[in-house]
Amino acid sequence: MSLLIIGGTGTLGRQIVLQALTKGYQVRCLVRNFRKANFLKEWGVELVYGDLNRPETIPPCLKGVTAIIDASTSRTNELDSLKTVDWKSKVCLIEAAEAANIRRFIFFSAQNVEQFSTIPLMKLKQGIEIKLKKSKVPYTIFRLTGFYQGLVEQYAIPILENLPIWVTNENTYISYMDTQDIAKFCLRALQLPQTINKTFFLGGLKGWVSSDIINLCEQLAGQSAKVQQVPLFLLKFVSQFFGFFEWGQNISDRLAFVEILSVENNFSKSTFDLYKLFKIDPSEVIQLDDYFLEYFIRLLKRLRDINFEDVQKQKTLII
Ligand SMILES: NC(=O)c1ccc[n+]([C@@H]2O[C@H](COP(=O)([O-])OP(=O)(O)OC[C@H]3O[C@@H](n4cnc5c(N)ncnc54)[C@H](OP(=O)(O)O)[C@@H]3O)[C@@H](O)[C@H]2O)c1
Repeated sequence: MSLLIIGGTGTLGRQIVLQALTKGYQVRCLVRNFRKANFLKEWGVELVYGDLNRPETIPPCLKGVTAIIDASTSRTNELDSLKTVDWKSKVCLIEAAEAANIRRFIFFSAQNVEQFSTIPLMKLKQGIEIKLKKSKVPYTIFRLTGFYQGLVEQYAIPILENLPIWVTNENTYISYMDTQDIAKFCLRALQLPQTINKTFFLGGLKGWVSSDIINLCEQLAGQSAKVQQVPLFLLKFVSQFFGFFEWGQNISDRLAFVEILSVENNFSKSTFDLYKLFKIDPSEVIQLDDYFLEYFIRLLKRLRDINFEDVQKQKTLII
C-alpha cells in the first residue's frame, strides 16, 4: 500500500511517517519546503512538492497513491492561511482523492467541533468532516484532544525558565495523548475494514487538570511554577474583544480554544471499547507521567553535555 502523508513535518505527521516506514509502507510526503523536510527523505520518504496555499499543486501528488493521511493544518504564525490551508486545499484534496479512486482518507478533526462553530478552525474542521462523509472516498475521521507535546511548551518550559503559567479557574479533566499513540491508531485503521466511514473520538486513558500537570512538572524540574489564574469569563471577553479587529482575529481564535478545553469530555466511557476495536493494549499507551519523566531526563542530560562541552572548551583555551 502506498501512502501520501500531508503534514509530515508536523508534530503528529512525523510520528505517522516514522511508524508507516517501520511497518513497511511506501511513503510519499507532500511538502512545501524540501530543505525543511530533508529529515523525512533521510528516513526513506519520497518527497513531492505541494503547497496547501496553492491547491492546484495537490492533485499531481496523488499519482499511484492508495491511501491519504492528512495531518496538516495552518501554522499558528501564518495569519492569513487558515481558510486556504484548512478549507480550500482540503476540499481540493477530497475531490482529487475521489477522482484518483483513493481507497482510504484519514482526517484529523478535534473534539467538540459542533459546539464551537463560532471558532473559525472548528467550523472548517466540521465542514471538512461533512464534505468527506458526502464524498465517495472511504474515510476515517479521528477527533483528537490535546497532545502531550503541546504541554511541554505550555507548562514544562515556563517552569524551567521561571516564566508565568496562565491557567483558568476551571477544573476540567482533559485526556491528552502522545502523538506516537495517535499514530498507532491511525495506521491500525488502515488494516481494519470496520473503521471505514467511521468517526472516532480519540483520547488518552486518564484525564488531567492543569494543577496536576503543574505539580508533576514542578516535582520533575525541582522548581516552583509561577501560576497566574485568570477567570475563564475574562479570557472569553478578551477573545471577543480581539475578534472585533481584523488584525486580532488570530489571537482571538487561539484564545477561543480555551473554551473548547473547558468543556468536560467523556472519553473515559468509550475509551476502552475503542482500544479493543483497534486491538491496542491500553497498558502500552504512553502515560503523561512517563512522557514528562523522559523529557526531563533528556533535558538534564543535554544540559550536562553542554556544561561538559563548555568546560572542555575552557580547558583547551587555557592549554
Ligand atoms: N495539536 C493539537 O493539540 C491538536 C488537537 C486536535 C487536533 N489537531 C489536529 O491534528 C493534526 C496535526 O496537528 P499538529 O499539531 O501535528 O500540526 P502541526 O505540528 O502544526 O503541523 C502542521 C503541518 O501542516 C503543514 N502545512 C501547513 N501549511 C502548509 C502548506 N501551506 N503547505 C504544505 N504543508 C503545510 C506543516 O508543514 P510545514 O512544516 O512546512 O509548516 C506541518 O507539516 C491537524 O489536523 C490538527 O488540526 C491537533
